[in-house]
Amino acid sequence: MLHSETRTALLRRAAEVRRRAYAPYSGFRVGAALLAEDGRIFAGCNVENASYSLTVCAERNALFHAVAEGAARFQALAVAAECDSPAAPCGACRQALSEFAPDLEIVLGDAEGRERETLSLRDLLPRRFGPDSLPGRGQA
Ligand code: THU
Repeated sequence: MLHSETRTALLRRAAEVRRRAYAPYSGFRVGAALLAEDGRIFAGCNVENASYSLTVCAERNALFHAVAEGAARFQALAVAAECDSPAAPCGACRQALSEFAPDLEIVLGDAEGRERETLSLRDLLPRRFGPDSLPGRGQA
């Protein structure tokens, strides 16, 4: 588990980038901050579209941003969203994240970046379909 100061810093980044969310249709703004193993932090927000199904979640935007910058190993993800009960990444984002970090630590926070809950991607997505599920790819 990350140190509490690191979790706080990651949540702060998630809350900051949440302000850039483009969510005119749902009004539900989400920010995500992904901590790479080398210490870099990659942020993403949800970006909606008038063609609704093209919407991309904050978590996948953070992940794709990280991969485009050369990061592929991750320690933790923080998510900031307005919520009664903390919002965990959707199924599509769990699958995308598990490709790179099946045991990712996930820190859920409110819109201001206050910590609400910390859990493991392994618990959110047991028995994932991963690279090792494909014939000839061995263990990931
Ligand atoms: N959303 C995220 O950004 N992350 C999630 O894990 C769940 C949902 C976004 C997508 C859409 O823009 C809005 O929240 C409402 O579903």
